Amino acid sequence: MTEPRAQWKSKMGFILAASGSAIGLGNIVMFSSNAYKYGGGAFYLPYFIALFLVGIPVMIAEFGLGAFTKKSFPMAMRQAGGRVGEFAGWFAILNAGLITMFYVTILGWVVGMLIRAIAMEDVSQGFAPGNTVWSDLIRGWLPVSAVAIVWGLNILLVSKGTKTIEMAVKVFVPLMWVAMLVLVVVGFFLPGGFDGMQNLFAPEPEVLFNPDVWRGATSQMFFTLSLGFGVMTAYASYLPDHSDHSHNAITTSLLNCGFEWIAGVAVFAMLFAYSQLPASGTLGMMFTVVPSGIAALPFAVKIFGVAFFALLLIAGLTSSISLVEALVASLQDKFQMPRGRTLAICAVVGFLGSTLFALPILIQVPAEGGPPGEAPIGLMLLDFMDHWAFGYGLILVGLVECLVIGWGIGAQNLRKFINQRSRFQLGAWFDVLLKFILPILLTLLLTFSIMDQDILKETVYGTGITTADGAGLWNSLVEWSPKLILGLWVIGCGLGAWLLSGATGADLDDRAVEEEVAEIQEEGGLL
Ligand code: PFF
Repeated sequence: MTEPRAQWKSKMGFILAASGSAIGLGNIVMFSSNAYKYGGGAFYLPYFIALFLVGIPVMIAEFGLGAFTKKSFPMAMRQAGGRVGEFAGWFAILNAGLITMFYVTILGWVVGMLIRAIAMEDVSQGFAPGNTVWSDLIRGWLPVSAVAIVWGLNILLVSKGTKTIEMAVKVFVPLMWVAMLVLVVVGFFLPGGFDGMQNLFAPEPEVLFNPDVWRGATSQMFFTLSLGFGVMTAYASYLPDHSDHSHNAITTSLLNCGFEWIAGVAVFAMLFAYSQLPASGTLGMMFTVVPSGIAALPFAVKIFGVAFFALLLIAGLTSSISLVEALVASLQDKFQMPRGRTLAICAVVGFLGSTLFALPILIQVPAEGGPPGEAPIGLMLLDFMDHWAFGYGLILVGLVECLVIGWGIGAQNLRKFINQRSRFQLGAWFDVLLKFILPILLTLLLTFSIMDQDILKETVYGTGITTADGAGLWNSLVEWSPKLILGLWVIGCGLGAWLLSGATGADLDDRAVEEEVAEIQEEGGLL
């Protein structure tokens, strides 16, 4: 017997949950680090084009798909595109599962830093430039326990599905807005802070000719809006009928990008006030550069140090719970297993994966043009997995989902379904975008980056790491690890998706979509 599908209690609850998923670690530091790396104010152009051309339309499609089928991603994709659709759906969920593993590891580091910030006697010394708090932290075993805590919190917050998620986001999401607004106001009044903010807007137009900038903006858009993970479809499958999906998608996207933008202003103000340069890497920004900006504040350093990591933790948790929910809901929809057992399986596997990325064992990494450096193996594996699962996985999923929705359900049918309930009417442009423009655009981006970053380099990403003594079985394993990670991604997601999509599960009337489509056309007389 199947239970009736859970529902959000209110539209507000849904918007908080969806925007809570979107606003996460990516918003607080990734935007400023990318804006700095990709040419300051000029980055806005690719960013806004990616928002309006890719982000909002794909979010409308993901919301529409979930509401239309009332299924989480893989089964929804099956209704839209048969076995191939379901395969792509599971690929997305497994790819998202790998990203969840290291997202939780990063949250574990955040917990570790939060504990340090609370315990530290003098934060302005401890977090000062050149500080080694983070590099010491990841060279120890504390993060492994922290990872267990974060998984524990996730289990607690998704235990009762929409009910507990809604409770959590009602407290956490407003809290994180308040924290961010306080940071930006403080930044504004710092001496030099205003000049720092202007740096975020100073354009370097030549970057617009660099295709890598466009790829960066598109990947960032997928990640920051939580697209290509199956999350938004799962969340929208819990919406009551007659929800306005276009409006929801526009609201969620603008809340997310608004937050990101405010965070960018706060971070730039704080860094430039103390002549710090933003790092080009997200982790460096999060764990060393911003903390050293905070260390230089003229007052309340401890409060801001603790608040910054608490903010990261809260924002990260409202994101990670959406990932866990998407995973659990997908397995439940397919195999109709009890929720508790499904969640337990996901948490155990997830915890083991997150532990792998938190391993502190030191290895040698080649440094460009200099002597080799040392790094924990977990951090290196995280970087390799990030390259595949984040760098390619999301865009790949986005491409296939546009094709499956565009041609499977038919973009025009989904549009009509959405328009019946929406105050903002989608035009025929939506069909053209989903069926042709986005698939072509995403294929070009994907081809370009695979050629540029991998095929032309003729080595597997990350090759060259060894152990200190360079001998023995452990050394071979370390040397092979970039290939093992690539294999884990391809086989784990590809073979896993093939097996899951082939497995017998809940009955799904594959003709259901055609019937529903016919119904929509009849009801609305929209054809
Ligand atoms: N949007 C989140 C961020 O910007 O940090 C990352 C994320 C969370 C992606 C949840 C996907 C997701 F389902």
